[in-house]
Amino acid sequence: MNKFFIKTFGCQMNKHDSEKIAGLLIKEGYKICALPEEADVIIFNTCSVRKHAEERFYGFASSLKSLKQKKKFILAIGGCTGQKEGERILKRIPFADIIFGTFNIASLPELIKKVRKDKVPVVDIKERFNVKTTSLPSLRKSHSQAWITIITGCNNFCSYCVVPYVRGREISRPIEEIVEEVKRLSEEGVVEITLLGQNVNSYGKDLYGRGKFAHLLYELEKLDRLKRIRFATSHPKDLSDEIIEATANCSKVCEHLHLPVQAGSTKILKLMNRKYTKESYLELIEKVKQKIPEVSITTDIIVGFPGESEEDFLETIDLVKKAQFDQIFSFIYSPREGTPAFNLQQEIPYHIKLERFKRLIRLQNEISLSRNALLLGKVVEVFVEGISKKSKDFLTGRTRTNKVVNFKGNSEWANQFKMVKVKEAHPFHLIGEALSNFEETKRFKG
Ligand code: SAH
Ligand code: SF4
Ligand code: F3S
Repeated sequence: MNKFFIKTFGCQMNKHDSEKIAGLLIKEGYKICALPEEADVIIFNTCSVRKHAEERFYGFASSLKSLKQKKKFILAIGGCTGQKEGERILKRIPFADIIFGTFNIASLPELIKKVRKDKVPVVDIKERFNVKTTSLPSLRKSHSQAWITIITGCNNFCSYCVVPYVRGREISRPIEEIVEEVKRLSEEGVVEITLLGQNVNSYGKDLYGRGKFAHLLYELEKLDRLKRIRFATSHPKDLSDEIIEATANCSKVCEHLHLPVQAGSTKILKLMNRKYTKESYLELIEKVKQKIPEVSITTDIIVGFPGESEEDFLETIDLVKKAQFDQIFSFIYSPREGTPAFNLQQEIPYHIKLERFKRLIRLQNEISLSRNALLLGKVVEVFVEGISKKSKDFLTGRTRTNKVVNFKGNSEWANQFKMVKVKEAHPFHLIGEALSNFEETKRFKG
């Protein structure tokens, strides 16, 4: 009666919410299982940022229809599509039992009990703030790495984006609560944390009347056993000098910034409501590169926003050439009902969007390769995550700059730091060779 299976779509925050859902259910006596066929409760934690993510979820959920006819289980649909669509989901997935929103994770055990008793579907998408999801226990995959939500919601209302509508306004967690959680985790063996928020740079504004993200970084820097601090996502308009300084000054804060630009044309940026220009973005990253010389910068780009002309797209190409990003995550614009951009005229035909998307990726692959090639022959610190999924002969891990490094070694090195010499550069990863103990000792002695 108490096995659950959970499938997650979307961003790191949603993945972390799934860790919370799992942690909560385990606390209630449930056990996690790896296959939907074995489960008494199947949970989908959904994403609605693009149509494609939503359709993937509907596809998976529909495919459970025949299983539902054979076997009794509860189908619970949560996350951003749950929040956005509510009971409308029942039109497409009539055999769903529970629809719950992003504010209602803590209610899931109660909702399961209710459905079992009343045998009718329940919908709970009320915006609730009394029980905070952030204070729930988490079931984490790794004992060494952890995500920590520091701010939920978003106040920015970029014109294409559903997130503010499905996650509500920004709510920061008190600084003491975050430091306490990270301290406890580091005492339990966590060495790398990633601070999460749709815009971590505005952390504190709602709670303290001014941004406190830099202050938070300095506080976390003091925790002895912690080795690496990462964060995502940064909004360019809120990346203050204070935050850049803190990133440069704190030895544990990794030299990596995910700084979504979204487009290179100032005209499109205005239509997107991003509140910066192409020039100011380029100046900002120049400043970052000066203050943090080894920094790697990654970004998100949307192609084919309504009204994007070939000239506008060429501005994006130009920005990408100038910025020399280490990696980009590019997306084809997906109109989302309820967002201001949904009503804009001049939709770009799909074949043009696709062609621009491919051009952008081709360019970035060359740039990523040349950025990675700069590391050839260098020795980098890698936190080993385990055996590579792609090749059993290799271990895989990440540098402080968030680059994937694969190298041969002992599987017992998982969850340890290793110094690795870079031998090969590829657009998405590096291949290296672990330094022998002798070389490592020599290196540390200088
Ligand atoms: N809070 C983060 C990320 C939000 S969603 C930020 O502000 O950067 C992740 C990415 O999805 C966005 O950066 C954007 O590039 C993309 N995205 C959001 N809405 C989209 C849409 N309607 N169509 C295509 N891509 C979209
Ligand atoms: Fe969406 Fe913009 Fe908020 Fe990011 S900052 S979540 S893109 S509205
Ligand atoms: Fe998707 Fe929701 Fe994240 S819409 S990107 S899962 S906040």
